[in-house]
Amino acid sequence: MKNLHFLLAALCVLPGAIAIAQPKTAVQKADSVLRLMTLEEKIGQLHQLSSDFATGPITPDGDKQVQVRRGEIGSMLNLMGAARTRQLQTLAMQSRLKIPLLFGQDIIHGFRTTFPIPLAEAASWDLQAIEQTARIAAIEASAAGIHWIFAPMVDIGRDPRWGRVMEGAGEDPFLGSKIAVARVKGLQGKGFGNTDAVLACLKHFAAYGAAVGGRDYNSVDMSERMLWETYLPPFKAAIEAGAATVMNSFNDLNGIPATANALLQQDILKGKWKFSGFVVSDWGSVSEQTIHGYAKDTMQAAMQAILAGNDMDMEGYAYHKHLATLVKMGAVPMARVDDAVRRILIKKFELGLFEDPYKFSNEQREKEQYDNPLHKQIAREMATKSIVLLKNDTVQSRPILPLQRHQKIALIGPLVKSQKDNLGFWSFDFDDDSVRLVSLYKGMQNKLGSSTSMLYAKGCNLNDTDTSGFAEAMAVAMQADVVVMQVGEARDMTGEAKSKSNIQLPGMQEALIKAIHRTGKPMVVLISAGRPLIFNWTADYVPAIMYTWWLGMEAGNAMADVLFGDYNPSGKLPMSFPRTEGQIPIYYNYYNTGRPAQNDDQRFYVSAYIDLPNSPKFPFGYGLSYARFAYGEMQLSKQQLKGNEILQVTVAVTNKSNVAGEEVAQLYIRDLVGSVVRPVKELKHFRKIMLQPGETKELKFVVSTNDLSFYNSQLQYTWEAGEFDIMIGGNSRDVQTKRIYWNK
Ligand code: NOJ
Repeated sequence: MKNLHFLLAALCVLPGAIAIAQPKTAVQKADSVLRLMTLEEKIGQLHQLSSDFATGPITPDGDKQVQVRRGEIGSMLNLMGAARTRQLQTLAMQSRLKIPLLFGQDIIHGFRTTFPIPLAEAASWDLQAIEQTARIAAIEASAAGIHWIFAPMVDIGRDPRWGRVMEGAGEDPFLGSKIAVARVKGLQGKGFGNTDAVLACLKHFAAYGAAVGGRDYNSVDMSERMLWETYLPPFKAAIEAGAATVMNSFNDLNGIPATANALLQQDILKGKWKFSGFVVSDWGSVSEQTIHGYAKDTMQAAMQAILAGNDMDMEGYAYHKHLATLVKMGAVPMARVDDAVRRILIKKFELGLFEDPYKFSNEQREKEQYDNPLHKQIAREMATKSIVLLKNDTVQSRPILPLQRHQKIALIGPLVKSQKDNLGFWSFDFDDDSVRLVSLYKGMQNKLGSSTSMLYAKGCNLNDTDTSGFAEAMAVAMQADVVVMQVGEARDMTGEAKSKSNIQLPGMQEALIKAIHRTGKPMVVLISAGRPLIFNWTADYVPAIMYTWWLGMEAGNAMADVLFGDYNPSGKLPMSFPRTEGQIPIYYNYYNTGRPAQNDDQRFYVSAYIDLPNSPKFPFGYGLSYARFAYGEMQLSKQQLKGNEILQVTVAVTNKSNVAGEEVAQLYIRDLVGSVVRPVKELKHFRKIMLQPGETKELKFVVSTNDLSFYNSQLQYTWEAGEFDIMIGGNSRDVQTKRIYWNK
């Protein structure tokens, strides 16, 4: 259906239309449609409903098919598949103006191909690889009729109790910004108009990750400076990279629900940042203002949301029910409604939907993406890159890992044969357990050949008090040369609405680890989870530990690759791992305070706990390799700089081992004295490099005044003259430092 032609023809018969030039840009085209629309049709464009699969209560009223035919719905979520989207689009084509529907979907870490969860991918520090998995998600999803993906989630996560840390890139605004940009680029591909480019949606605007107590949907209270310094950078970077849409959030920020927050949406997003895309609410968040106690009814809620800059109402019915009245009363200017509709129509034009509303609903293309072997291979590679080696002690003169193929291996633990748990939260159930999902057990068989007699015991369940399997597991361990355990969380223990006050390894799993440890056998523990967990005993006593997160459908193959050294682990933690929940929120870029503890033992009238060191169990940026890297002394091009000069920082990194490996060199800066206090260190650059055995590479980083800049008390982004520490290392804790002076 060449729908645009219909609209242009319609435009020409309108009185006064003769003077209007043929529209050329998406904006002009959107305006040409806008002029034809009734108020009800405009409101329809702002109304988004879900199909049957939901992440919140589905509003029962109304027959959606009838509403689509009447042009009362502009977008749908949770409706997938070339056939189904085509079916609904056909109904939209029966509406008066034939404005195509926009189909949105939560595709958080892959569609047909499930990649590692976003937090795991962030551990790769590999921006190209991250962009590539987002690209594949867009290719597969767009082939199933989806135009718009509700990702990336770019919320900073400093609190592992918050279940949604799994969806983001961790605690750091710099790394988070780089990854946000990579994901947007991947999703939006070579630009709208291509059938495999989808609209990205940054979420959740804003500060959702700072929910008090790590409890999902909870309030956020923070200074505007903190907002700008820590929580907004990934949004800003991704908007600058062209992200098409933004979703606001469930939380209130300083007492004002984000959905009705004009500071966030009008002043910052659409004002300062000149964002030209549209803002969608989160599920029902327009009407939830009444529950927050910010609106007395949904009419007031609708008014506040649209005036504050929220364009589309997701599953809320507030706009649908009240916007017309509000406009007629003069409470909401028509110009604001037009602005919201125009923003949405522009995206529909840019996608090419007016020209061909079915261009994404292509059964043939969908079938081709059903089981794409290349995508599967990339899922395996991404999974190997996401694994973080936390510990690899030497026992009997050799490190436990990598394993050797002749060793007799016992696989023990409740996750060893589990397949779906590896997929993690926010994944699709396309697969029958045994078809495409690779458990650790299957991955080890694939590696060693199914004739290999691997020993196995489950040992315990994921989350109960039953220890009856311990004896069998210990007996199995006794027969092996080495034990590999896979423990962690079930797929639904971390995610939306999955906040936890206790983030220790669930159930009897650590007790099982202790029991196996008592056998005296060399052992490796793999921890699969959506968030940083607490496992102090394991960390202290088990000689080899890999944090595997949730690695997706190729999890087992990837774990086997790393266990046997076919891939040398290179992941680095994107979040600090706490010692106890009492340390949370925990992050490396904290302020020094007036009474900092000089070390973990200092407790006397310093900013410390009397019962706990301040340092995390594993620091941000940390991760080992089977190779050993040595950093030479960092060289600075200058120690005194002035104005817009550039500082060159050079460091030689050598692979001192006999295996090739990758290292992520990290550069941090501390501004020693500021007009507002500055963090003890901030990541400003990083580079991931491959080094052959014995090889040395010289890394050069260019530091400019942009790397010194911060938001001052007037919220101006600026730098101040003074002393700065430049730090380089393989993680945020173990760095070498040199001081420079930078004058204005
Ligand atoms: C609620 C979640 O907060 C959001 O991230 C998601 O995109 C929507 N539901 C739609 O499912």
